Amino acid sequence: MRIDIISIFPKMFSAVLDESIIKRAQIKGKLNLFIHDLRDYTLDKHHKVDDRPFGGGSGMVLQVEPIYRALAAVKKKIKGKSRVILLCPQGKKYNQGHAKKLSKCTNLIFICGHYEGIDERVRLHLADEEISIGDYVLTGGELAAMVVVDSLVRLIPGVLGDKNSLNFESFEGNLLEYPQYSRPAQFKNWRVPEVLVSGAHHKIESWRRVQSLKRTGARRPDLLQKNKG
Ligand SMILES: C[S@@+](CC[C@H](N)C(=O)[O-])C[C@H]1O[C@@H](n2cnc3c(N)ncnc32)[C@H](O)[C@@H]1O
Repeated sequence: MRIDIISIFPKMFSAVLDESIIKRAQIKGKLNLFIHDLRDYTLDKHHKVDDRPFGGGSGMVLQVEPIYRALAAVKKKIKGKSRVILLCPQGKKYNQGHAKKLSKCTNLIFICGHYEGIDERVRLHLADEEISIGDYVLTGGELAAMVVVDSLVRLIPGVLGDKNSLNFESFEGNLLEYPQYSRPAQFKNWRVPEVLVSGAHHKIESWRRVQSLKRTGARRPDLLQKNKG
């Protein structure tokens, strides 16, 4: 997969995207990631990317022109089709199902907004979809892009060392994952459930299934309803 991210704060990405699974995905050749500074696509000497909103009001708005130019330049480098995603609090709320769909794409381009937002013409004419990572307002789309990229890259086949770990993860089959424990079996007077150290694999499997159902019922009954529907 190829991912391109357009932002006015490109330096924000290295802390997250040059580490851990995303770094490994790049080393393994599963991911080609490119971060583009929107200011590189301006024509004036001050590299201006924003202006005041028409009609008045507070703050600045990212202009359509540099975004148009950045997209055109990025698309030229991409072979085949690409999907343009605008990070936006007014977009469709992101979830694991959405991450799965995106993980099957070949080319994704993310546009990160900032300030008061982005000129509406970017939504109307340049973006294929808008994604919100939740009902709150971030300062910019950079953190949202990192959340989306992280969650979809780990779903690309071959990225995670143990592909089985995806089958038992939260939200798989609309369930939350069972509780996890590791060594020591006892710390202070907190013991791990006996069944987990029994070595009886069938019993462990059914304990985990029951825990997963109980936990989902207690914390996310809405997910269980989806299984019924
Ligand atoms: C301060 S916000 C603009 C909010 C906008 N004035 C509004 O009320 O809808 C600046 C940028 O942060 C990003 N952003 C903020 N919250 C987000 C969220 N929940 N999900 C995705 N992106 C978000 C978007 O790219 C947005 O253009």
